[in-house]
Amino acid sequence: MTLILGLESSCDETAAALVTDGREILAHRLAGQEAEHTPYGGVVPEIAARAHVEALTPLVEAALADAGKTLADVDAIAATAGPGLIGGVMVGLVTAKALALAADKPLIAVNHLEGHALSPRLASPDLDFPYLLLLVSGGHCQLLLVESVGRYRRLATTIDDAAGEAFDKTAKLLGLGFPGGPAVERAARKGDPKAVPLPRPLVGTPDPHFSFAGLKSAVGRARDAGRWSNEDIAASFQQAVVDCLVDRTKRALDKADGATALVVAGGVAANGAIRAALQTLAAEHGLPFVAPPLWLCTDNAAMIAWAGAERFASGLTDPLDTPARARWPL
Ligand code: KG4
Ligand code: ZN
Repeated sequence: MTLILGLESSCDETAAALVTDGREILAHRLAGQEAEHTPYGGVVPEIAARAHVEALTPLVEAALADAGKTLADVDAIAATAGPGLIGGVMVGLVTAKALALAADKPLIAVNHLEGHALSPRLASPDLDFPYLLLLVSGGHCQLLLVESVGRYRRLATTIDDAAGEAFDKTAKLLGLGFPGGPAVERAARKGDPKAVPLPRPLVGTPDPHFSFAGLKSAVGRARDAGRWSNEDIAASFQQAVVDCLVDRTKRALDKADGATALVVAGGVAANGAIRAALQTLAAEHGLPFVAPPLWLCTDNAAMIAWAGAERFASGLTDPLDTPARARWPL
């Protein structure tokens, strides 16, 4: 059995987890920073980095205690090395390097997107390569053909905002609070998805790229018009996002030769309406649909530890001078 300690600190969650190569999650600890960022209506990078410094070491100790393990029992230490808010990424990576040095363990520098991309395999042992992945988070919106560990063929990306960003901006426009995605989903449950006419940017175009900036502006205009309730705007916005994601993913399925499953991951994959629509799309294509449990969709350290386990099994470790990267395409 191989045991991996994983650390995550690239945005506003500080997390530590212990995961085995046999998919056992022995511990996962997470500290959010909602209270710190709520007064500002969004994540403040400097505040996030300081909060990671305070939270990370106690979380690592708690995770080890939960699992009844010590650092000596760990086979390798994995940490998010990017992309993300650079201060936070540095906190996690430097902590991992210090632990690796002190305990004489290998370091695994994980791309946060790879963490999301491989997370469905942690929860679903039967999920084999290659699979078509819709990766939808606060910073990214991509369609990837996941061919193997380390081989990700990007079929499409967003030309402006990420899907999660659109949820967060819509929540801000409607005064629904932070974090935006869950707030919009809650409001949408009480609204009429057909009430407000909103655009579906890029729907019907041949390449499966995404665009959400125009949708966000349209939400602002709908609010200013004063004709609709927040619930109706939220429901109509969410439906527009669903329609965009489904149309674009459908196009990608036509290009994703040999995909064995349709998979969704990233924070926005926690959205019930989006999961349901993708499940229907997969069924129409005769493909299994795989979505990680909700807690594994939003940022966490178990997915980083698991990506570490997959990389470790492929013989991939990293030197202690590996840099933290704000930008790092998969
Ligand atoms: O993957 P994640 O936790 O962090 C990044 O790597 O970006 O994704 C966070 C994003 C945020 O934009 C958040 O509003 C969105 O995921 N999100 C949701 C839901 N839960 C989180 N969006 C829509 N519906 C949700 N239920
Ligand atoms: Zn993420």
